Amino acid sequence: MAGRIKTQELTEVSEAQIAVHWKEEEYYQPSEKFKAQANMRDPGIFAQFGLDKFPDCFKAYADMLTWLEPYRTVLDSSDAPFWKWFVGGKLNASYNCVDRHLDKYGKKAAFIFVAEPEAEPDVSITYQELFTRVNEVAALLRGLGLKAGDRVTLHMPMVPELPITMLACARLGIVHSQVFGGFSGQACGSRIQDSGSRMLITMDGYWRNGTLIDHKVNADIAVRTAKELGQDVDKVLVWQRYPGKYSAKTQMVPGRDVFINDLLKDYKDKKVEPVALPSEAPLFLMYSSGTTGKPKGAQHSIGGYLSYVTGTSKWVLDIHPADIYWCMADIGWITGHSYIVYGPLAIAATSVMYEGVPTFPDAGRPWRIAERLGVNIFHTAPTAIRMLRKLGPQEPRKYKYHFKSMTTVGEPIEPEAWRWYYDEVGKREAVITDTWWMTETGGFLGTTMPAIHAMKPGSCGPAAPGIHPVIYDETGAEVPKGSGKAGNICIRNPWPGIMQTIWGDRDRYVKTYFAKYNKNPRSKDWRDWPFLCGDGAVQAADGYYRILGRIDDVINVAGHRLGTKEIESACLTVPEIAEAAVVPVQDELKGRVPEVYVAVKPGVKASQDIVDRVIKANEEVIGKIARPKHVYIVPDMPKTRSGKIMRRVLAAISNRRDVGDVTTLANPDVVEQIRTLVQGKETVTTKEELPEDIAKFGQVE
Ligand code: WTA
Repeated sequence: MAGRIKTQELTEVSEAQIAVHWKEEEYYQPSEKFKAQANMRDPGIFAQFGLDKFPDCFKAYADMLTWLEPYRTVLDSSDAPFWKWFVGGKLNASYNCVDRHLDKYGKKAAFIFVAEPEAEPDVSITYQELFTRVNEVAALLRGLGLKAGDRVTLHMPMVPELPITMLACARLGIVHSQVFGGFSGQACGSRIQDSGSRMLITMDGYWRNGTLIDHKVNADIAVRTAKELGQDVDKVLVWQRYPGKYSAKTQMVPGRDVFINDLLKDYKDKKVEPVALPSEAPLFLMYSSGTTGKPKGAQHSIGGYLSYVTGTSKWVLDIHPADIYWCMADIGWITGHSYIVYGPLAIAATSVMYEGVPTFPDAGRPWRIAERLGVNIFHTAPTAIRMLRKLGPQEPRKYKYHFKSMTTVGEPIEPEAWRWYYDEVGKREAVITDTWWMTETGGFLGTTMPAIHAMKPGSCGPAAPGIHPVIYDETGAEVPKGSGKAGNICIRNPWPGIMQTIWGDRDRYVKTYFAKYNKNPRSKDWRDWPFLCGDGAVQAADGYYRILGRIDDVINVAGHRLGTKEIESACLTVPEIAEAAVVPVQDELKGRVPEVYVAVKPGVKASQDIVDRVIKANEEVIGKIARPKHVYIVPDMPKTRSGKIMRRVLAAISNRRDVGDVTTLANPDVVEQIRTLVQGKETVTTKEELPEDIAKFGQVE
């Protein structure tokens, strides 16, 4: 640390740790009414899922499924850390999500599809109809020669045809790889190449923000990109947003492109036996959300994954067949795979699927949908919560819906945003579960059990049953709970939902998730393989975890490691602030100093007074060490289409570097506006290389 300024705060925290300054928040209790109806109310569940009961405790989840052949071994660790769950067992995901519900729930809606145009009627699809449609598509895929183990890339929007196609693949054991519909054709092409798909399934168009987007054009770019990378695509199957009508302008390529609705005429009412597949066969690939670098496909299994998302949908999301459940996420992300498609369907849920943007045509839209359909479980991300709070803070009051429970997922939620969610959206009736997890983990890691634990704003809570987290510092020493110190959060044990590997790259899997804290690469004992989640976290004395953001996003001010979320949460204590993002900039004295970008609520005028109060909030909540060098009031944050703030873009602007490719962002135009605001009309970028910590800041691995 020679040459760096030391301040008094430094004496408490070594460089191996991340400093924590957030104040403790108050508890909120679930209502008696909620507790009385919950699927899981027995606090004894945590003893039943203790480490001493591992791995057999997870039979409880596997036994929620229907197996075509029973499993013999719960966990096979002979190829550690490539875990195999429920070995010897055979099952079919499509059977578990559809067929087995027909007797009891055949007439009940599996999905209620809400189109973005408000005049378009809802489409309700019963389990019986889902069964028919999944079978027809499966028959079609089989007719085209596809079989178990083949990969197929999907590049589809939020329409019922997406889960139908996924389940048709699952029926045959075809490994689906759905690329988020908002991703570019190029991003899709590189994922086609990585997965070795010879078929792309897409849709001609879909509604977004009031426009019927030509989506088919992306298929042409994707196929071209894949070819340049060495992967041929023989067939592009095109769903029609309006059956019988082509909603795109792009030409269909003869011999390659076909309308699924035309082909399906030959498969009317055809049935396909669900194939009995080994538990450890792959169900799907999910490429991580990063837009840079080589795509990284998380490979998820059938038996382990399906067990885990089924168990957590039942106990954590607390879905009952009579509920109307709405997860306002996109199926193109892991949240949608696990908690719109596989988990909820496995427990016979009725799910709302919404095509469009939550704030279209206004910030009351989600609450209108909730009121009309009687939604009682609502699941969304902090970015949507902040946006709805910004644009329509009192909109929820206008609608007569009642949620019994709500979930947040995707990033840490600032306590200020949490309280709005609780008070206004949940009307102080609904419990909130803050579910922390990632693409690689298949399902929830950190969460409360909604009928068992109190809620604490900004903390995801203790962990899900059978998940045993540990926080290590950089040297591998355990950071004890209640110490006020943060570190790298890991999971001590494997669990059924964990990815099997990175598709086609075993070494990268071991290196990324295990190498840091594994001491013996030859060990077959799961205890030697803690899973590195990639997030910084702190555990309070009560056992609750608070996630501080990705480890790579820690800002090191004079040897003082600050989590981005802490600073951003401090900014949100200023009532006018709707969103905040912090980035590190180089500083001769302190190494790095934070620069803050804030967006204000509508109707609020940017002023020096707001800037001053943001600075003051940081000094008060965190300390002088966190005093931002600049506070910029910007019109909007640059965001990915999944709503994550692209801090790397802001860091590039602050450090006078080229912003790189921003075409995949949800709002690329705002980047130039922010650049001008910070740098002035003339571009003042330098080509000089950035120090490693800033260069990798905000780069989602
Ligand atoms: C972050 C999304 C705090 C975290 C399911 C993680 C969260 C990354 C939360 C994974 C939460 C997700 N609280 N942080 N409740 N949920 N994250 O792969 O940094 O898109 O590592 O999976 O999002 O993002 P991914």
